[in-house]
Amino acid sequence: MSININTDLCCGDSLCVKVCPANCLSVADGKVKNSNAARFTCIACGQCIAVCPKDALSLDIDKVSEIGETISSKMDITKEQFEILAKTRRSIRNYKDKEVSLETMKEALELACFAPTAKNGQNTEWIFINNKEKIRELAGIIIDYMRTVPSLKRMVQHFDAGGDPIFRNAPCLVFSHCPTEVGNHYGEIDCTIATTYLELFLPCLELGACWAGFAMSISKLYPPVNEFFNIPKEHSIYTGLMIGYPSTKYKKIPPRKHLRLQIID
Ligand SMILES: Cc1cc2nc3c(=O)[nH]c(=O)nc-3n(C[C@H](O)[C@H](O)[C@H](O)COP(=O)(O)O)c2cc1C
Repeated sequence: MSININTDLCCGDSLCVKVCPANCLSVADGKVKNSNAARFTCIACGQCIAVCPKDALSLDIDKVSEIGETISSKMDITKEQFEILAKTRRSIRNYKDKEVSLETMKEALELACFAPTAKNGQNTEWIFINNKEKIRELAGIIIDYMRTVPSLKRMVQHFDAGGDPIFRNAPCLVFSHCPTEVGNHYGEIDCTIATTYLELFLPCLELGACWAGFAMSISKLYPPVNEFFNIPKEHSIYTGLMIGYPSTKYKKIPPRKHLRLQIID
């Protein structure tokens, strides 16, 4: 997949370069262009399309929906408003240099406690980290594991050069964990649903988030991650979010694949 760029419309503001999670784009001579690797690295997330004020970018997937004036700040949860909330949720990877207070995060996490859980188990527990040094330390532990995986060399180099490919300089992180014991078969699903509630609620507090997939998967493979978290032996980390006040605004809803539906009648 590569991105179609209309260079007549492109104003070279680099917003698309900034939001692309896969480094597919760059600016040369005042215009955006695909990188050589874009065909292989583009994940068709549509972030570039959604952020561009000039409609200069497109993907060959589907039509882009306009948000326009239908966004309302008043959430009395009509069908339309929920649709907007669901469709305008974006993975936020660029944050203002602004701390997220514990009080704000507690408000959000309390909402997440209303997520459904199997057998109403409500076993999800949360960890909040808003200390920059601690976030860097955790990223370093994850990178230490990545040092053993040759295909992740670029991420290691990025980290060693001072970047943060794991948590994208987010001012805070939230992780969920719960017991893995027999009888709690749905722990991972429960944590995931609760985290989804949290992610959807965050924009109501002017916050944005992005799932911390690397930390989630490597916590299962590399014991020092769980040692950092200091969670009980019988618990597993299931989800993680990077959270902060977004420094980018999206203007459109990116395209998505068509519904795949089998009807059995
Ligand atoms: C389980 C999961 C793990 C993810 N891990 C990461 C990650 O480690 N880093 C990242 O930048 N984005 C991560 N993402 C974000 C996806 O890339 C993103 O949801 C997808 O491209 C769609 O874009 P959108 O969230 O803006 O709609 C993850 C998303 C999910 C659901």
